[in-house]
Amino acid sequence: MDDIANLKQTLSDSIAAAEDQAALEAVRVSALGKKGQVTQLMKGLGGMSPEERKTAGPALNALKDEIATLLDSRKQALESVEMDLRLATERVDVSLTPRPESEGFIHPVSQVIDEITAVFGDMGFSVAEGPDIEQDFYNFTALNIPPEHPARQMHDTFYLNDTGEGERMLLRTHTSPVQIRTMENNKPPYRIIAPGRTYRCDSDMTHTPMFHQVEGLVIDRDINMSHLKGCLQEFTRSFFDVADLNVRFRPSYFPFTEPSAELDIGCTRNGNSLTIGGDDWLEVLGCGMVHPKVLEYVGVDPNEWQGFAFGMGIDRIAMLKYGIPDLRAFFESDLRWLRHYGFSALDVPGLAGGLAR
Ligand code: PHE
Repeated sequence: MDDIANLKQTLSDSIAAAEDQAALEAVRVSALGKKGQVTQLMKGLGGMSPEERKTAGPALNALKDEIATLLDSRKQALESVEMDLRLATERVDVSLTPRPESEGFIHPVSQVIDEITAVFGDMGFSVAEGPDIEQDFYNFTALNIPPEHPARQMHDTFYLNDTGEGERMLLRTHTSPVQIRTMENNKPPYRIIAPGRTYRCDSDMTHTPMFHQVEGLVIDRDINMSHLKGCLQEFTRSFFDVADLNVRFRPSYFPFTEPSAELDIGCTRNGNSLTIGGDDWLEVLGCGMVHPKVLEYVGVDPNEWQGFAFGMGIDRIAMLKYGIPDLRAFFESDLRWLRHYGFSALDVPGLAGGLAR
């Protein structure tokens, strides 16, 4: 019985002396663990006579409970001390100025694609896509540009390496192959735009080897050239936000449209500066009525269906709208440039008409 009283004293001293959770846990293991002192004594009960057990049993059980209670309350005390310490040291000074967070910006090309999509979306167009790496058939032949056609030279095409598996693939030189893919995979009528990357072997102030175009295609039973003009007038006025913007057609030539035209919009030139709106003229895109041969290529009956197509350079109209001087800087990934010409991600593109910074 003295043993028990002594052990109780030693253990409660150790518990009181434990300075942190780890020290306390060590005491717990030394007392109640598998090989702990209390546990050992309890194991000894088996070897006692019934008489001895009668007194030792309850005494040991009581010891075990008391030690457990002491451990528990010491644990709570230590926890609250630790919490007080954390509260004292981890204080937040709310009067400090915040560290600047780096905000991302929307690239002008992405912004302008959103704006174009919003305007044509209002006119009932949906967005179609096609691959950047194209087959000769979609980029040229199906667009009525057969092999040896001089228009192929004008496109400065990038060809991929010859794999020996048939014809060489190429990087699409315009978004017009998406017209073909759309008509091949769907039944008329069509009313789509197709924004995306295009590639030509060309580089100077106003040309980069990769650039962006948006294609438009409208085919129905009685679509004519005045629909084309009205659609593009509506688009340019809305996109450039000039209500009375002049538009005019100039005759042109593309193998896949007949008749073909270029669209000019009104502008004002003053020395080196150019603004949209005014009595001077600026060329913005190529367009025309889809050539019957193109419709035949994709199995759409030209006697039943007709319509228009247009193709416009996105980077160029972004430069015009937002006064960005050099096209090459678009693709140099210079963050200073993006911070200057980019758009805040918090503006809803197309709806709020993102604010230029
Ligand atoms: N694909 C032509 C180009 O890149 C533009 C165009 C598209 C012209 C559709 C007419 C119709 O120059």
